[in-house]
Amino acid sequence: MFNKALYKRLLNSRRFGEKLVLLEETDSTNAWIAERLDEPDIDKLVVVAESQTSGRGRFGRSWFSPPGVNLAFSLAWRAPESFKFLSLVTMTAGIALAEAVADVTEVAPRLKYPNDLILIDKKGGGILSEFKKTETGSYIVIGVGVNVNTKEESFPDEIKDTATSILSAGGKAVSREALLAVFINMFDKWISTLSARGAGPVLERFHQFSIPFVGKGVAVTIEGETVKGSVIGLNDSGELMIETSPGVIKTVNSGETVFGL
Ligand code: BTN
Repeated sequence: MFNKALYKRLLNSRRFGEKLVLLEETDSTNAWIAERLDEPDIDKLVVVAESQTSGRGRFGRSWFSPPGVNLAFSLAWRAPESFKFLSLVTMTAGIALAEAVADVTEVAPRLKYPNDLILIDKKGGGILSEFKKTETGSYIVIGVGVNVNTKEESFPDEIKDTATSILSAGGKAVSREALLAVFINMFDKWISTLSARGAGPVLERFHQFSIPFVGKGVAVTIEGETVKGSVIGLNDSGELMIETSPGVIKTVNSGETVFGL
């Protein structure tokens, strides 16, 4: 069982995650938060589920959430206007996740744009950020799933060739409480950096963890339409700039991204 007291001892952030709800089971922590955005104490709250019955990934995919071994959590944040770029906030969460993995485990984390956590060439985690408007305000819901202590043989057939966990990549079980606390601490730190110094340091840190993609061929599919070209880089909103033909640059901020074409 996730140990709330241990998590609290390791948490330094004074902004996020002091309020933590622990659920034995829910459909999806993103959905749980989205249904409660008008409740008074929801801002900066973290909800952790020991298991999800309908964990959601990007593009309507499902997210494997077996009981008691992984991290599945969401953070609600009534972010100030200045944080309106969801891609950038999501990248900030990706950096925090990579830093938490680097700090707590012996596995070298990589990021795959926009927000996949890669451990030895396989997917070990992902982030689903959603922007929600309610009667009382606008919220960013950041949902994070990390395969922490799942044994390799426990992955379902559909994902067993592409997914991994910290345990199978590094050979050691790690503390979910420490991972979550360090994630929140780092997220807080990078949000402060973003606020004080703009996108530059975030983009630079992202590139340090990222599998290289600038200059690579890419195809991004958004709502059935595919944009193909060569990656120029990321702009200050965290969007991908793609040269689709000589001198023509398109900017995309969502969609299924395949590099290396
Ligand atoms: C992806 O890579 O497709 C994103 C996966 C995000 C999964 C997490 S688990 C906690 C939160 N609740 C959900 O239903 N999804 C996110």
